[in-house]
Amino acid sequence: MPRNQQTVTAVASLELGAPSPASTAPRTSALPSAGPPHPLLVPPVLRLLHTALDGTVESFVNIWHNISERLDPHRPEPFAARSLAGKVAIVTGGNAGIGFATAQQLARRGAHVVIACRDPERAQAAVQRIAATTKPLFPAALPPAKDAAGKAAGAAAGYGSSVQVEAMQLDLGRLASVRDFAEQWRRRGLPLHLLVCNAGVMGPPARLETADGLEMQFQVNFLSHWLLANQLVAAERQRRTAAAAAARTGGPGARAGSRSRKAVAADVAKSDAGGGQLLAPGSSSSSSSRDGGSGGADGEEQEAREGLRVVMVTSLTHRAGALQWADKQSRASYEPFLSYGLSKLANVMTAAELQRRLDRNPCPHGGAADAAVSVHPGLVATHLANGFFTSRGTGWAAGGPLQPAVEAAVRGFGDLAGPLLMRTPDQSAAVMLHACLAPRGQVAGKYLALGRVASPDPAAEHPELAAELWDYAQELTGYRSPLQ
Ligand SMILES: NC(=O)c1ccc[n+]([C@@H]2O[C@H](COP(=O)([O-])OP(=O)(O)OC[C@H]3O[C@@H](n4cnc5c(N)ncnc54)[C@H](OP(=O)(O)O)[C@@H]3O)[C@@H](O)[C@H]2O)c1
Repeated sequence: MPRNQQTVTAVASLELGAPSPASTAPRTSALPSAGPPHPLLVPPVLRLLHTALDGTVESFVNIWHNISERLDPHRPEPFAARSLAGKVAIVTGGNAGIGFATAQQLARRGAHVVIACRDPERAQAAVQRIAATTKPLFPAALPPAKDAAGKAAGAAAGYGSSVQVEAMQLDLGRLASVRDFAEQWRRRGLPLHLLVCNAGVMGPPARLETADGLEMQFQVNFLSHWLLANQLVAAERQRRTAAAAAARTGGPGARAGSRSRKAVAADVAKSDAGGGQLLAPGSSSSSSSRDGGSGGADGEEQEAREGLRVVMVTSLTHRAGALQWADKQSRASYEPFLSYGLSKLANVMTAAELQRRLDRNPCPHGGAADAAVSVHPGLVATHLANGFFTSRGTGWAAGGPLQPAVEAAVRGFGDLAGPLLMRTPDQSAAVMLHACLAPRGQVAGKYLALGRVASPDPAAEHPELAAELWDYAQELTGYRSPLQ
């Protein structure tokens, strides 16, 4: 049993009536005597009601959007039509659902996108599908396709140029795979501008464990992403340091370090010559920006200010997650929704805590300011959401004589109501792009829901709980983050 599994706060123990292990000396043992109540003391019923209310409000918003879009099928550009030429992005779970739609939109804008997926076949199929179905927004800014498959896909689709997308293997159910991925990435020496921690699992009916002996949702949704983000931030900062040193001495790394800005400037010039709508990286089209683009800030200046952005994909269900706080591995009891909620609460906490640590530890080289943000992508009809609702709707009848009828009824209801109550992955891309591309000052350290900055559960904003979670993650992974 992992040592720190015992690390529950005195407050959580108090809430759930569990004994407080004296040896763990919890950080949060001293309750503030004044001010708002400790977030873990919010009554469970209020937490669950708040979660249900958020879901209900969002369903009504979805109904409104879905009906409006049916009446007027014209779809505006999801978020700003901004060129991302010269930018490099990693999207975990980019082979399906929200991750696929996000990867496609980033590639469409000219980013070099790496989808990090557990299954090589599904990953390659997604790469081919993105290449064959994605028309670049700024074709002149793209380098020629390197491989024959890319060229063929672009040509077959009639685009003349192919978007830059590739796959790397990453199984978030194995910490060793995360470490391998980060090491491979470090060796490649590519810059990293965007890390979208999107992959996830939701509510397996029975408690499952990963290869590392941890609760599946806790590790896949949170812990492995925590490790990945920390290792990739460290690798990117090392790369910048090496590039800065090489630039000072005029060594071989100098070109790599300065490539981004120069190449991007060349891309801008090329695209302008080709009549494209390319804007300087980091700026946005004031005419096409819907969701608070940067409003034309100088590209070079913004490039210097904005570094790596880490986007943690969370869920409105994070509000219920605090109810599982005292039993993070769901060993004492497993309730699929609460365990999922805990992993998503941990995503919000990680983004906020990472931001605090990035601010405390600014990267000395490259002048870049890194940022972290968490986003609820919306209620979206994907394998994950459909699977969860179906299993919740039919689980009670499993194995009984009513099972076939219940399954048919739930499927029928889903087919009828799903397209109204939920968004499609393509529709969720606007929300995701907002988290990825909105100016740093608007979103750094924040939680986004329904496409805007929102207030997360109070537990998610509690620095001491977040620091406790950070320590727990360090113990479980054996990785001591340089961001202290
Ligand atoms: N859909 C919603 O309504 C909703 C609402 C709130 C939040 N979210 C969040 O949105 C994110 C994306 O979910 P989705 O709805 O797009 O679901 P999805 O279509 O089922 O996609 C999930 C992705 O995660 C990948 N994945 C699962 N386990 C993995 C592992 N061990 N290692 C690497 N990748 C793994 C899947 O890969 P395989 O294809 O190999 O399984 C798939 O690519 C999740 O974090 C989810 O919690 C979704």
